[in-house]
Amino acid sequence: MTRLKVVGKNKILERRGAEYSMSLLVAWHRPCGTDSLLHMEIVGLGVDLADVDRVRRLLAKDADRFRRRCFTDDEWEYAHRFADPSERLAARFAGKEAVMKSLFTGWRRIPWRDVEITGGGPPGVRLFRKARERADMLGVVDFKITITHTKSDAMVFVISQKRHDS
Ligand SMILES: CC(C)(COP(=O)(O)OP(=O)(O)OC[C@H]1O[C@@H](n2cnc3c(N)ncnc32)[C@H](O)[C@@H]1OP(=O)(O)O)[C@@H](O)C(=O)NCCC(=O)NCCS
Repeated sequence: MTRLKVVGKNKILERRGAEYSMSLLVAWHRPCGTDSLLHMEIVGLGVDLADVDRVRRLLAKDADRFRRRCFTDDEWEYAHRFADPSERLAARFAGKEAVMKSLFTGWRRIPWRDVEITGGGPPGVRLFRKARERADMLGVVDFKITITHTKSDAMVFVISQKRHDS
């Protein structure tokens, strides 16, 4: 059995054990408040890019219809904390598609509002109705998501995860 001796935040002096070292490394890389990666397995990946100008045009054309079709109340409220909500809405739109990809499905099967991308700090994913059912069917219990956006583009990456059984 091997073990690691820790001498600093990210430094290892001795190597004596695989199991111990794994849990230490996971602990270091674990963001506060999330499950240990040691017990999680990747189910799927998703990525999407949204054109912010397209979202701007849809907002100008019929904001209320766009809202009812695509966004949850929390997403809408969060985006409207900013002078130009288009960037955040585009990010949420891309996020929904990325989540669907990570669940091996798309918007033809899952309504947009069944996936919520949370904001105001590190982003998160909340699922409702059909999206929740799809995730449950695949055993997905968690998502890792990262977002970036500019005035012109919004991009989102998502990883869906399930518990590692064995
Ligand atoms: C968070 C930060 C890296 C975002 O970078 P940016 O170049 O300004 O903006 P980007 O377009 O690339 O990213 C914006 C997205 O980052 C995400 N984000 C915000 N805070 C985050 C965090 N602490 N960790 C991970 N992602 C974060 C959000 O999803 C945000 O999009 P949203 O407002 O639509 O939800 C940057 O604003 C920063 O360094 N802020 C300082 C605050 C900080 O360090 N907080 C950490 C405290 S734990």
